[in-house]
Amino acid sequence: MEIPTWKKKNLIGVQSLSQSEIRKILKLAKFFKKSLGTKHNHLKGKRIVNLFMEPSTRTRIAFEVAAKSLQADVISIAEKSSSLTKGETLRDTALNIQALGADAIVLRHSSPGASLFLSRIVDVPIINAGDGAHEHPSQALLDLFTLEESIGSLEGKKVTILGDILFSRVARSNFWGLSKMGAEITFAGPSTLVPKSFESMGAKVSHDLKDSLSEADAVMLLRIQHERQSSSHFPSLAEYTRIFGLNKSRAKWLKKDAVILHPGPINRGIEIDSELADSDNSVILNQVTNGVAVRMAILSLCTLSRIE
Ligand code: CP
Repeated sequence: MEIPTWKKKNLIGVQSLSQSEIRKILKLAKFFKKSLGTKHNHLKGKRIVNLFMEPSTRTRIAFEVAAKSLQADVISIAEKSSSLTKGETLRDTALNIQALGADAIVLRHSSPGASLFLSRIVDVPIINAGDGAHEHPSQALLDLFTLEESIGSLEGKKVTILGDILFSRVARSNFWGLSKMGAEITFAGPSTLVPKSFESMGAKVSHDLKDSLSEADAVMLLRIQHERQSSSHFPSLAEYTRIFGLNKSRAKWLKKDAVILHPGPINRGIEIDSELADSDNSVILNQVTNGVAVRMAILSLCTLSRIE
């Protein structure tokens, strides 16, 4: 398959993508999914650098597998093994990576805006692999792909995102993606993590678990992002689980065919019980597999883009 024309060099967030751009990414990902495991030559001779300044299992490995499946050379750098520990700035690090011949940089960073910042400094494409609580576009795109695969068109579908919305880049990117695809989004959880102010984005806000689960075609669980919280937003984890954890008895409120998603890492027994994470309704591992195909689409479109 020919890589379609694509005019955006960088992928900073889903907020700036149009519905037709999202469809283009998902269509290309569908092509790559059909031949997952086969090597394509779209990025042969290109060099992709994964610069991960926060821990990652799924995103880093999926970008690596995706790049290798397109026959690119891949170099992965973690903060602790780089000269950032010796005082080098992110700006200088990126300029040096570019000088070493990178054709694209995949960046994960704890600061919101880090990817946008680098995209204004270097000439090579910057792909945001998560920047603080701002956006995680490749995650949302793989979530859209998985949802369409499991429940069909998202037009008019109801998706509940339950958990730590306040500190979640996944929730924000999914909100933009889902709303552009015509879905209705409910943010659910305790009022300290799901403030009413989110309604101004166009989402429904609910602190009533039964209400928000019973109408959902899909429910996405989010873990508590302790690493971004400087103070506690609820009395204890046990208290959170007691009131908002998805367990077998609460899952009875869900529609029979509702699908369960989680971006990972899962904290089993806290936001979701094992029997639900591993149930027939769960598409959690499908999300992970689809992440390779979606990232193959992102890498080929951005690296081979014609104009910014
Ligand atoms: N979903 C996600 O971003 O997982 P990792 O932190 O393991 O990459």
